[in-house]
Amino acid sequence: MARTSYTGARPLPLHTRAHRFALVGWNFVAIYAGYKRIQRKKGLSPGEKDRRYSAQHQRAAERIYKLATRMEGLLIKTCQFISSRADVAPPEYVAVLSHLQDRVPIRPFPEVEAQVRRELGASPDEIYDGFERTPVASASLAQVHRARTKDGRDVAVKVQYPGIERVVETDLVNISILVRILARIERNFDFRVLMDEMRKYVPRELDFVLEGESAERVARDLAHRADIRVPKVVWEHSARRVLTLEYIDGIKISDIPRLDEAGIDPNQVALIMTEAYCEQILVHGFFHADPHPGNLLVMPGPVVVFLDFGLAKELPDEFRRNYARLIIAIIGGDHEAMVQAFRALGFKTRSDDPESLIALGKSFFEVGGPEAKPYVDVDVMPEVNERLARILKANPVTEIPGDVLLIFRVIGLMSGLQKRLDSRVNMIDTITPYAEAEAAGAAGAAAG
Ligand SMILES: Nc1ncnc2c1ncn2[C@@H]1O[C@H](COP(=O)(O)OP(=O)(O)O)[C@@H](O)[C@H]1O
Ligand SMILES: [Mg+2]
Repeated sequence: MARTSYTGARPLPLHTRAHRFALVGWNFVAIYAGYKRIQRKKGLSPGEKDRRYSAQHQRAAERIYKLATRMEGLLIKTCQFISSRADVAPPEYVAVLSHLQDRVPIRPFPEVEAQVRRELGASPDEIYDGFERTPVASASLAQVHRARTKDGRDVAVKVQYPGIERVVETDLVNISILVRILARIERNFDFRVLMDEMRKYVPRELDFVLEGESAERVARDLAHRADIRVPKVVWEHSARRVLTLEYIDGIKISDIPRLDEAGIDPNQVALIMTEAYCEQILVHGFFHADPHPGNLLVMPGPVVVFLDFGLAKELPDEFRRNYARLIIAIIGGDHEAMVQAFRALGFKTRSDDPESLIALGKSFFEVGGPEAKPYVDVDVMPEVNERLARILKANPVTEIPGDVLLIFRVIGLMSGLQKRLDSRVNMIDTITPYAEAEAAGAAGAAAG
């Protein structure tokens, strides 16, 4: 059957594809069974149970790590996401999978050399001075080598793994099959929204020219902030699969001991991050959608550096304003306005009863607990989840707009980051001025 390609690449041969699918499935079953065994075991003391769970988290995380390094592609991206959720994920997962944020097993130099030659028409040694053989970092789609331009600029050369398109294409095909199966089992929710959004954004990550343009756009939008930085693109040495960037010597945002050593206040860093996202999402409607720790560096100042604009999202103006209205309504506890804003954004529920949307809106701040932490508090989360699930069961949300998915992703990653930084940022005080300014624009637009 003829089918259009997501990325323009061919998927891997069918037997490899089936093998990938089976391996992921098998590992999932093995991990699930491991947890079930502990759950079923009767008569364990609480201490013994905790110890067994911790050992199982460790085993599961190591299994997933091995699987991801073997499979590459979207599985690495998934692991980066899990490892970034220090707010909710078990610490064993965070520790093991964090390596996949910027320490994926590397490709040998000849492969890198060939890729640079294909993309830029000459070998790395002809183009740069001192192109380092060993990469400084490696992540989901590329590895990064240090070098100098002939005119003496320090650069980071991001070289896409050869053949990664076919891996990503295969993953998208496999996920779309899963989504279709899920849609038949779980009829209350349409997972195709998720698939549509992935189909649109994942292939773009393979285009480094687009990535360079996104970086420049956010750099322009945030140029007035001396405490936020985006590396400059060196266009003359960039193409679809090779991106040359100004090299930034910074500290990984989650490396708290090194931040301390440099006298940088993590709480200040958390505040800058929060403001950066308020401004990108609510004011400019264009944002970096992948703030996991591997994509964020900190320099003395503190200055927060955004890397990796492969996943960047533009919001329609009207959507952005309605989103600001929703935030104002949630902060103010105005249920009627909350429901109106959710509906204007494109949320639909099975019946007209507004209870589900109200519960959903309220849960955004409830998960912070009574002390209103700027991240998910695992002690209150089960309770909030249970209540939400009960209400949603009676009247499920049947449609969520694709445009919120990457916002939810950012909210999740930010929650993990705030926890890591032990942030005390007051979310309401920080978000309100941004949301109010934009929501006022919405009222004006509606009146005019
Ligand atoms: N301009 C830069 N300066 C210094 N290090 C960088 C730079 N760009 C990327 N890196 C390092 O390389 C890693 C991978 O780069 P990234 O753009 O995130 O690739 P991917 O899209 O594969 O995640 C980053 O996590 C970071 O450690
Ligand atoms: Mg990255």
